[in-house]
Amino acid sequence: MTTSQGPAPSKTTVGILGAGPAGLLLARLLYVAGIDCVVIEAKDRAYVEQRQRAGILEQGTVDALRECGAGARLDKEGLTHHGIEFLFDKERHPIGFPELTGGRTVMIYAQTEVCKDLIELQVSAASSGAPPLLFETSAIAVDGANSQTPSIRYKTKDGAEHTLQCEYVVGCDGFWGVARAAIPEELSKSYERTYPFSWLGILADVAPSNEDLIYARHPRGFTLLSMRSPTVSRNYIQVPNDTDANDWADEEIWDEIERRTETKNGWKVQRGPITQKSVTPMRSYVHEPMSYGRLFLAGDAAHIVPPTGAKGLNLAVGDVITFANAIKHKVATGSDAKLQAYSDNCLRRVWQAERFSYDMTNMLHTDPNESDFVDKLQIARLTRIVTNKAAATDTALAYTGFPLD
Ligand code: PHB
Repeated sequence: MTTSQGPAPSKTTVGILGAGPAGLLLARLLYVAGIDCVVIEAKDRAYVEQRQRAGILEQGTVDALRECGAGARLDKEGLTHHGIEFLFDKERHPIGFPELTGGRTVMIYAQTEVCKDLIELQVSAASSGAPPLLFETSAIAVDGANSQTPSIRYKTKDGAEHTLQCEYVVGCDGFWGVARAAIPEELSKSYERTYPFSWLGILADVAPSNEDLIYARHPRGFTLLSMRSPTVSRNYIQVPNDTDANDWADEEIWDEIERRTETKNGWKVQRGPITQKSVTPMRSYVHEPMSYGRLFLAGDAAHIVPPTGAKGLNLAVGDVITFANAIKHKVATGSDAKLQAYSDNCLRRVWQAERFSYDMTNMLHTDPNESDFVDKLQIARLTRIVTNKAAATDTALAYTGFPLD
């Protein structure tokens, strides 16, 4: 059997499950470090390149992409953002990042574009030894995770089963992937919170209504005004769980955004043709530990955050950088110490992002089952952030990114 990039591989140093941003970036980091790997992805390339997800890259994520050679288009097309705004009680309040954080900013550059750039880099370097990206190839299970020779059982498109012998396996295969299941239940503990609301997200062919993102709290529910480019807006409104995006007519969505972002000075959101709409549920989830023997979990395979803090992609990137540094240390010194510290090191950063995402979510969304006491607390929290420099600094530091250990 052959794959689109040659014979089905049977041996590698690092077997990577999943070709989302985490798996792709890890493959690139390992290639640059001279460590061989194979990436196994169930979906096809077009799907990976079109799956609409997050759009905010922290400084550390941008730096990592640049350092591994994936920064060219991002530097041309990415939009550097120097702050966000909170809108509540019909007033807008800017929070500037550089002045509060010693110069840090974030960048708007969609996850889809990060994936396209990383795939293109690897595919164009395939003849000089870049790792194979096996699309439309399903992982069945990780075997022997706690042995010296872990392996991945996988199935190619023609239905044939294969085994990939690895020295290490990294599960970047998302919440529904097979990697996490290889950690024995008796060693696992997961922590979870669900929320009584979801986000209805739209892409629209209209210039963003504001230079900065606007996070708006309103008695009718949360709204986020974001963007993908100078001509494409990306907006979200809080909706009840189980909402069908098709139940919302385009003009109804714009009417609702306009109501929730009304200000005292008459500023209004710009409307335009909606090209895509979808509903995203909200969840907080952490699986501990994030490693077992020679298996390491990264990104959504180990943790989920609600999107309010824009942390999901950045957390995944932090995980794979931590793994890449640990294996480079192993190769350079023979010491396993950093690989063994992987889970604890990642979890410290993950829980800070969980906390921030949870706080942002609870501060900005309305819950019909909560009392008006909670409404007042939300306003008090927002007021504290926009009127107290220490509180604003804490928010700006968290939003622009938690440092790697
Ligand atoms: C987005 O542009 O998709 C986006 C931005 C900020 C968030 C979440 C999503 O907090």
